Amino acid sequence: MVTIKSKFEIEKMREACKIANLAQKAVEKAIKPGISTYDLDKIAEETMRANGAIPAEKGYPSYQKGVPDFPGAICASINDNILHGIPSKFGILQEGDIISIDLVAYKDGFNGDCCRTYKVGKITEEAQNLINVTKQAFFEGIKFAKKGNRLGDISHAIGEYVEKNGFAVIKEFEGHGIGREMHEEPGIPNYGKAGRGIRLEPGMTLAIEPMVVVGNPEIYQGEDGWSIWTEDESLSAHYENTILITEKEPEILTLE
Ligand code: MF3
Ligand code: CO
Repeated sequence: MVTIKSKFEIEKMREACKIANLAQKAVEKAIKPGISTYDLDKIAEETMRANGAIPAEKGYPSYQKGVPDFPGAICASINDNILHGIPSKFGILQEGDIISIDLVAYKDGFNGDCCRTYKVGKITEEAQNLINVTKQAFFEGIKFAKKGNRLGDISHAIGEYVEKNGFAVIKEFEGHGIGREMHEEPGIPNYGKAGRGIRLEPGMTLAIEPMVVVGNPEIYQGEDGWSIWTEDESLSAHYENTILITEKEPEILTLE
């Protein structure tokens, strides 16, 4: 079921989303060669807790049998690790890396979800281009995030933009509705046909999240049961915000 949030619920979503953005900023400040993803995890969790939220990813169940709940407060995914990287003391950032931080703040029963890909020191032109295109793909998509449009309009715009720029989207993972649950209906693929899918209505809150790779979009899962990697070890980037569909322009709840 696609939930339409009430005024009260939208206020609660705003709060959770604001804290998710604060946690991103705190992590961004700390990113430098030599810091571990374990340290970044702690910074994100402390920021959330200091603001009355908790990290919703910690303890999130896997849909796969035998895989333990997600152990981190954030997903921290370096270079060819596309998503769901588990923070670790061994995950030490090096000059030239790119790192995606995907986090969800949970407060008063509501979730705010966002992801950014950051550079570590000086990175290659290709890596910077990948980061830029991934972020812009989100903004191309939300140009269509308007009352009366269809979900496929967003998906199509994202996929087209990424391909036009010579990169590829990951098809096995997608954006999603969000609210009391981290993952609600509808699923929001990063590719597809315009004019298809549900109609967008004011009060829908959606997490739109292009995941983009430089090379072949084939993926594999790490032995930890969570981390997802590019088969050809090429770089990947991820950018996400929680947005609100309104009567007019969409509101991006996880940015100021
Ligand atoms: N935050 C991710 C998303 O964008 C989901 C992370 S899975 C978890 O949908 F297990 F880490 F929570
Ligand atoms: Co998400």
